[in-house]
Amino acid sequence: MPTRSPYPLPCGRDVIAAIFFHSTLAPRADLIPPLLLQSPSMPRDSPAPLLVLIGFMGAGKSTIGRLLALQLACPFVDLDVEIARTHGSIPDLFSSRGESGFRAIEHHHLDLILPCLPHPTVLALGGGAFLQPANRELLARHSAAVIFLDASYEVVRTRIADSGQQRPLARDPEQLRKLFELRRPTYLLAHHTLDASGNEPSELLASLLRLANRLGVSGPTRDKL
Ligand code: S3P
Repeated sequence: MPTRSPYPLPCGRDVIAAIFFHSTLAPRADLIPPLLLQSPSMPRDSPAPLLVLIGFMGAGKSTIGRLLALQLACPFVDLDVEIARTHGSIPDLFSSRGESGFRAIEHHHLDLILPCLPHPTVLALGGGAFLQPANRELLARHSAAVIFLDASYEVVRTRIADSGQQRPLARDPEQLRKLFELRRPTYLLAHHTLDASGNEPSELLASLLRLANRLGVSGPTRDKL
């Protein structure tokens, strides 16, 4: 489906500026010596990876993604936020275009954004994005490190209810459970899976930071966890 894009192609300064401007934790890239964005062991010609968080609604992708990016002093981008900025709220999009219309827009934005992201960046995807084979292909093409935040059904159901956030696919509890069970095997195709059921975000954050370090991304303080 053709959608009007705010991003000029190919990725120009405008795209990067828009992403930095709107990401909640826009990094002061000007203040971070470039070498600190890379692990000392990383070969100079291998770019730090793009860290992509996937998982069911309520898994904590956006919340923990922001914290992770803050620790790594890199940009955080939430695909749904980028979509909503251009097209209006996700629930309104579901109402006006249906789920298939939303998926087309989601794919279009992922396709536009991926080539524009500096490495490292933490990118959080909406819960259904990784289910689309075309999106998985895009992520593979951009050598993204895909990290599945794996929370139990009970945990995500409670978090969804407590969040007060409108989620079109979470209205019917029975459908929600079916969707959860249907999707989990696909989420497990991610490169890395981390348990995200715990109540303490700091534990998940510590695991993510260790993983990021292993993948060659470390924050400016170089704190070892
Ligand atoms: C969806 C999850 C939502 C949002 C949309 C569809 C899904 O994002 O993309 O409502 O299909 O699971 P969150 O996972 O951030 O809630």
